[in-house]
Parts: sequence; C-alpha cells; structure tokens
Amino acid sequence: MDAVIRTEGVSKVFNAGLADEVRAIAAVSIEIPRGRITVFKGPSGSGKTTLLGLIGCMSRPTEGKIFVEGKDVAKLPERFLTNVRRKTFGFIFQHFNLIRGLTVRENVMLPLYPTDIDGRQMERRMEEILDKLDLTAKRAVKVEKLSGGQQQRVAIARAMINEPAVILADEPTAHLDTKLSEDFLNIVTTLNIDGKTIVIATHDPLIYDKPYIDNIIEMRDGAVKETAPL
Ligand SMILES: Nc1ncnc2c1ncn2[C@@H]1O[C@H](COP(=O)(O)OP(=O)(O)O)[C@@H](O)[C@H]1O
Ligand SMILES: [Mg+2]
Repeated sequence: MDAVIRTEGVSKVFNAGLADEVRAIAAVSIEIPRGRITVFKGPSGSGKTTLLGLIGCMSRPTEGKIFVEGKDVAKLPERFLTNVRRKTFGFIFQHFNLIRGLTVRENVMLPLYPTDIDGRQMERRMEEILDKLDLTAKRAVKVEKLSGGQQQRVAIARAMINEPAVILADEPTAHLDTKLSEDFLNIVTTLNIDGKTIVIATHDPLIYDKPYIDNIIEMRDGAVKETAPL
C-alpha cells in the first residue's frame, strides 16, 4: 500500500506522572492510504482528536514513530516539524475556528503566514479556491456575516490554500444540519477525486455509513479496535 502516513506503536500520555495522567493514545499502528478517504470513528474520548493532531504534526507522541511521506517526524526539531505540517496538511477544525472581524479572504490566507510564496502566485491560488467553493462574491465580507454553509466552505478553502497533500478534518459535521453535512461530504468527495488524501475524525454515522467511505479505523479507549479490510 502507498501510505502517506504510517504510525508505529504510537502512544500519547497527557500530564505524565501527575494524578490526572491520561493515556489518550496507546500503541497505535496505522497506515493512511494515499488518495483515499479514511475515517477515525469512535465515541467521545476515544482518542480521535489526539490521533489526528499527532499525524498532522500538531503534537508529538510520547512513544512510537510517525512517518509522513516515509520520514519519521516524531523527533524532528520544531521548525522542521512546522515545515512538514505546512507542506503536507490542511486542517478543518471542529468549530471551523474562523476568525471574527476578518474577511473571507483574510481567513483563507492565514495558513500562508509566514511563508515564502510570492504575492502573485498567492493571489492566483486564492482566486481559484474561492471560485471552486463559490465564495468569490463573498471574498471581502467578514466571516461572522456569512451563513453556516458559507462559513463551512471558508474553513475548507483555508485548509486548501497551501495545496496540502492531506486534509485532516475533526468532527466537521458536528455542528451542521443534515443538508450542510451532505454538502460538506460532497465537497470533500470532489477534493478526494481530485487526488487529495482525506482523514476525518467523527462519530457521525452520516459520514461513516456512506458506502464510499471504505477505510474506517475504529477507536476505543485510545486504541484501534478494528480496521475495515482495504
Ligand atoms: N490536552 C489534553 N490534556 C489532558 N487530557 C487530554 C488532552 N487532550 C485530550 N485528553 C484526553 O485524552 C482522551 C482522548 O481525547 P480526544 O483525543 O479528544 O478524544 P475524541 O476526539 O475521540 O473525543 C480523553 O480522555 C481526553 O480527556
Ligand atoms: Mg475529538
């Protein structure tokens, strides 16, 4: 299998040695196949967000190895880790984390700072993405003025602006009605057809029950319960 990401015996302990020590992830070995949609499924507290943060180079494992494009990132110095994160991943957060008071354009541009990409290239990329997500007319509008569906598309646009190979989404439909959840899935499916690898952490059956979502990694108490056959 061509895996974009592979983990080997990864564990994450929070508050190590303290009374409130939590082993959020325990000995997880998984592979994220390139070009597919993978879902981390499991109840609240099962470790989905922690695992997403680990593979997305947002945090480091307590034990184990994480290979991104074949390279072990677990012990990389901070600035190299930041580089891998910026180059490889786009993030869609649980509450979208859009910044009020900033326009659509300003929110979408956030992952590009600081960066060495030149202004004109950035403009072109921005235009393309806004067009693709039907946001061109809203480019100068402050995000708090947008509808839920538009805000969702801004979050997706922001995850795409650095042209990542992998998009990571944490409970993307948790605060959306059925129609918007379906819209989200349609957009993500289109991105996947265009070649993006997608990883979604969710406990929403509307996502993991879709027949075309065929790579499900089930989490329970920080461990992988079972992996659907590829
Ligand atoms: N920063 C943190 N500090 C301490 N405990 C944490 C932290 N993040 C997550 N946890 C704990 O780790 C476990 C897994 O949490 P999480 O990864 O958020 O699960 P999920 O996303 O499946 O709901 C939970 O017991 C949670 O309370
Ligand atoms: Mg979570």
